[in-house]
Order: sequence, then structure tokens, then C-alpha cells
Amino acid sequence: AWSKKAIAEAKKYGEVIVAASSKDKNYSYIPDCSDLDIPDDADYVYICENETIHGVTWQQLPNTKGHILVSDQSSMFLSQPCNVSDYGMIYAGVQKNVGPAGMVIAIIREDLIREDLDPKMPIYMRYDTHAKNDSMYNTPNCWAIYCCGKVFKYLKSIGGLEVMHQRNIEKAKVIYDFLDSSKMFHGTVEPEFRSLMNIPFVTDSAELDAEVVAATKAAGYDNLKGHKSVGGLRASVYNAMPIEGAQALVEFLKKFEAEHTK
Ligand SMILES: Cc1ncc(COP(=O)(O)O)c(C=O)c1O
Repeated sequence: AWSKKAIAEAKKYGEVIVAASSKDKNYSYIPDCSDLDIPDDADYVYICENETIHGVTWQQLPNTKGHILVSDQSSMFLSQPCNVSDYGMIYAGVQKNVGPAGMVIAIIREDLIREDLDPKMPIYMRYDTHAKNDSMYNTPNCWAIYCCGKVFKYLKSIGGLEVMHQRNIEKAKVIYDFLDSSKMFHGTVEPEFRSLMNIPFVTDSAELDAEVVAATKAAGYDNLKGHKSVGGLRASVYNAMPIEGAQALVEFLKKFEAEHTK
């Protein structure tokens, strides 16, 4: 879904070639991107590294054949270690794992901060504007920056992204293990590409899905309704969700299943 939006936006500025897609199976996997047909004159290769709505994540970055890799990491940023030098640019809205909504963090390779841009490009939309002004060209979102700083310090204090990653693996496993053992609930993503952050699942009927959503909501588990383009349910377990939250949800779903299975 986010790539679809990125494609529509990029088309306003240039030619877009969709080098790989998993549309054939409702975006439930990541296609093999080891030998893509990428035109020599492509400016960059874009990926959405964790697809928030469908719950798929890249385990291995695509072979860009020497082209710049641009990644939307919004829904996985700081959830695991990342080798920043593999990318030309990473961007992420901070609202999932880092701080309050209303700010994006962009990490861009210095040589990509270009000055030879169309003069009609708004000053604010130029990366060189932000780079030259230490991200303070305008009055920045101080509150979000302050909160992000707190989160960065917290991540360091627990031992960094390796530790966070381990926690996220253990937490997601609680839910995936349940889904794999349940007769009522099924994960919708091929196991190899399952996201650690967004876990979509379904029952065998839309009516039962709706019943589960209502029951979870009544029990105090909010936001489990899957995105409207996918249906079913989705548990988003970002960094801030403790493993106890995943365990409590699984206990609830187990009980629901037992009560609704004759
Ligand atoms: C992967 C991804 N990219 C982009 C966005 C859009 O973020 P924003 O609403 O901050 O523009 C989202 C929001 O959920 C997202 O998950």
C-alpha cells in the first residue's frame, strides 16, 4: 500500500518502473529481488522495507545492481540493527517506534544532497536546505525531537538495537507461535517474510473476524481491526509494546477460540 502511494507520487516527477511486486498474492510475500531487471539509467531503487498494512518485511535487501537504494523504514525504524551504508537514503516517520507523530527522520548519503535542482523546487523540500541549517531551517518540531532524544537514550541504555531486536523477535514469536498452532486464526503472510512489527491474521470468515475485533475491543485491546484494504485483524507490536502485551492478547484469543469451538 505504501509503495503504491510512493509510485503515484514519483510518477509526477519521472518515469517509474515497478521492478518487482507481490500483488499476485495480495502482497503476502517479498518477491525474489536477487536479479531484477533494473535499467542502467535508473536513478534509484525504492523499497518499503516493512509493509505496515500487509505485515511483510524484507529479510534481505534487493540486489540494486549498483544503483542507489532508498528505503521507507517508517514502520520498522530502530526495531533492529541496520547497516546504514547499504542505503543511499532511509526515511521514517517517527510515530511508530521513536516519538510523537509529526516528524520524519531522513538519513541521506552526503553526495546525494544535491544543489543542482529545478529552481521551482520549494526551498523547504530541498535536502540541502535542511543539511545546511542543521535541520533548523524552519522552527522544528521541538517536542517530537525532545521525545525522540529520550527514546534514543533509552535504546542505548538497554544495550542498543541488538537488544531491541531480540525483544522484538521474542515478542512477535509469542503471536506467530499461537497463529501457527490455532485452528481458528491464521497469519496471512508467508512465514519467511513475516514482519516483527505488524502481524495481520484472519479467521475463515469476515463475520467471525468482526466478532473477534468487537470482543477484543470490549476487553480493552484496541486497534486490532485489520486495515480496510486487507480486512481481518492486525496486531501492531512496535518497540513500545512489551512482551506481556503480546502474551495477554494470545491468552485472550486462545480463550475466544476455546469458547467458540465446539
Ligand atoms: C511504511 C509507511 N510509510 C509511510 C507512512 C505514512 O506516514 P505518515 O502518515 O506520517 O505520512 C506510513 C504510515 O503508517 C507507513 O507505515
